[in-house]
Amino acid sequence: MRVLLVAGARPNFMKVAPLFEALARAGHSHIFVHTGQHYDAAMSDTFLRELAMPEPDEHLEVGSDTHARQTARLMERFEPVLQARRPDWVVVVGDVNSTLACALVASKLRDDIGCRVAHVEAGLRSNDWTMPEEVNRVLTDRLSDLLLTPSRDAAPNLVREGIDPARIEFVGNVMIDSLLRLLPTGRALGVPQRLGVADRPYVLVTLHRPSNVDDPDQLRTVLSGLARVGRRARVVLPLHPRTRDRIRSFGLDACLGDLTVLDPLGYGEMLGLMDGASVVLTDSGGVQEETTVLGVPCVTLREQTERPVTVTEGTNRLAPWPLTADGIDAACADAEAMGRSAVGERSPEGWDGHAAPRIVDALARASGIGG
Ligand code: UD1
Repeated sequence: MRVLLVAGARPNFMKVAPLFEALARAGHSHIFVHTGQHYDAAMSDTFLRELAMPEPDEHLEVGSDTHARQTARLMERFEPVLQARRPDWVVVVGDVNSTLACALVASKLRDDIGCRVAHVEAGLRSNDWTMPEEVNRVLTDRLSDLLLTPSRDAAPNLVREGIDPARIEFVGNVMIDSLLRLLPTGRALGVPQRLGVADRPYVLVTLHRPSNVDDPDQLRTVLSGLARVGRRARVVLPLHPRTRDRIRSFGLDACLGDLTVLDPLGYGEMLGLMDGASVVLTDSGGVQEETTVLGVPCVTLREQTERPVTVTEGTNRLAPWPLTADGIDAACADAEAMGRSAVGERSPEGWDGHAAPRIVDALARASGIGG
């Protein structure tokens, strides 16, 4: 099989990385297309290097823009690449604009060049259509020939939408393959010690969802909640570029007060810091999953999660909604009281470090090869 893998934004890299090796080991060839949705060294290059990914075969360099312009540019630039490369499969991961744009291009060229689309992380649903990621997920799933699900709750979502169960396959969570591989390295970096936060419990925060950071009142509320938490614990906040820009443009820098604010971290650094935290507060999907496997209590700063298994089988809980400063502080204290468990102790089925070979098997079987 010739398999074209698409990745472009930070949360994509840890999902495609394990696939290169699994494809090569099974004797298949791969083509790596980096869309350039994320382009800063700290949002992209660091991850490629740490995850030992190959150099991209194609770089679309789309950069940041409005949703429509970014998606349009992705499509325009991906189409000729696909026509030239003519793979058997286009594999897209997750829910970012790159995922949907490339799935849409490939689905239109399906008959011309004989390629099919596989979606890794299919079937997650927040049912919140104000999230760009929800639009991307639902449409990508609709366009895909093979829907590879990370958790057992995903297939019923797809069947409910009329997708043929024969096209759905449970493979588990491929991001955990990367996590388990990089965790020892991440721990050895000694990030909490380097930051001087290792001597007492600290709370790690990630924040970048448009619903939390693009509205000045909501962002002020969240930052006030963090300041409240900061009265009794050290709060560490690596800042996503979007959040950094919004804090500056809304004039909220003073709200950062005593928080330990950092630039975006590398993957190993982030894993090491997450692993040492007493609680993680986040609005990221991936962090909800990573804390579950690490056994670290997590509070999600959103109204709902498309990853319910992190609540029912993991360490995650939703903060009371609508968010208030007191609510964030209380939820953080409750989570802290829960204490942490051992790595892997609370891992849902298939979050075991071996999802990549299952994905490759599923592609091969759907191609009528082996399996
Ligand atoms: C995107 C994804 C989101 C994912 C997140 C992880 C979509 C719709 N959203 O959101 O699902 O959780 O990535 O980070 O695809 N910027 C930089 N440098 C970069 C990248 C971005 O400075 O390397 C800044 C730019 O000012 C840009 C802003 O961040 O305008 C937002 O970037 P964008 O890729 O549009 O969306 P994210 O918020 O990162």
